[in-house]
Amino acid sequence: MGRPDLPRVETSPPPQPCYNVGHGSGHGSQRHKLLLRTHVNPPAGQAFDQLAATLDARGPVVLPALLLCDFGHLAREVERLESAGAAALHLDVMDGRFVPQLTYGLVVVEAVRRAAKRPLEVHLMVEQPETCVEAYAQAGADILTVHLEGLTDPRQTLKTIASLGPRAHLAISPGTPIDRIEPYLDVCDGVLVMSVEPGFGGQAFNPVALAKLSQLAVLRSQRGDSFRLGVDGGISTETIGPVAAAGAELIVAGSAVIRSHDYAKAITELEQLARSAA
Ligand code: DX5
Ligand code: ZN
Repeated sequence: MGRPDLPRVETSPPPQPCYNVGHGSGHGSQRHKLLLRTHVNPPAGQAFDQLAATLDARGPVVLPALLLCDFGHLAREVERLESAGAAALHLDVMDGRFVPQLTYGLVVVEAVRRAAKRPLEVHLMVEQPETCVEAYAQAGADILTVHLEGLTDPRQTLKTIASLGPRAHLAISPGTPIDRIEPYLDVCDGVLVMSVEPGFGGQAFNPVALAKLSQLAVLRSQRGDSFRLGVDGGISTETIGPVAAAGAELIVAGSAVIRSHDYAKAITELEQLARSAA
């Protein structure tokens, strides 16, 4: 059954499109819309609500970053990570311009979306991210994280992301001070504090992130905001306690999980350390 020119048509009952309803024509190509009709996922907001409930009930969670995983067996890696207890997955999109490395784009995010049951955070390390947020929303991001340093109009881009369905998170690199992000906190669903220079996995943790997390936690309570606090880079059994104590709830861990032999053991140990420190 199905048309021979559509590569991913499934034989199961006709699925419903989820991410491509009512988003206008924008940057989502017809091809992406066709691909998305071949699978079903919960709408972005709903998936994040489940993650938020986990955060509220159990405390900080670890989001494994797929950057160092075996991309030759991507669906198997997603399955291994989810079976190991990952509450959500973190996808690093790098364009070779905003950061030196080129990783992957929409096609891989869509493939992970099809394989994954848990929410996806898509971390866009690209120039002019505002030009592709609609496409990544349609590809299945539940959280879309954009860098302040790459945006010309952060407020507008964050509002656009939220209107598309995903949670809108703003990332800041180690050299960017908190006062540059403060004007946009009212339109942030989350802030991702980078604890390494964006661009590569396996780097050493930069403790400048600890002060920023603490400052953001104070600002949040002073202002009555409700954005989530995340951290990304150099997370290990040594650094996860301090970041959780400083307020991080969505804790990205790449090499600490992927380079371990036992994903479940690594995630469980990291989350236990985070929850006892939070
Ligand atoms: C770095 C990426 C990170 C990276 C984390 O630019 O944003 O998500 O994958 O990897 P580790 O945990 O190894 O620093
Ligand atoms: Zn990342």
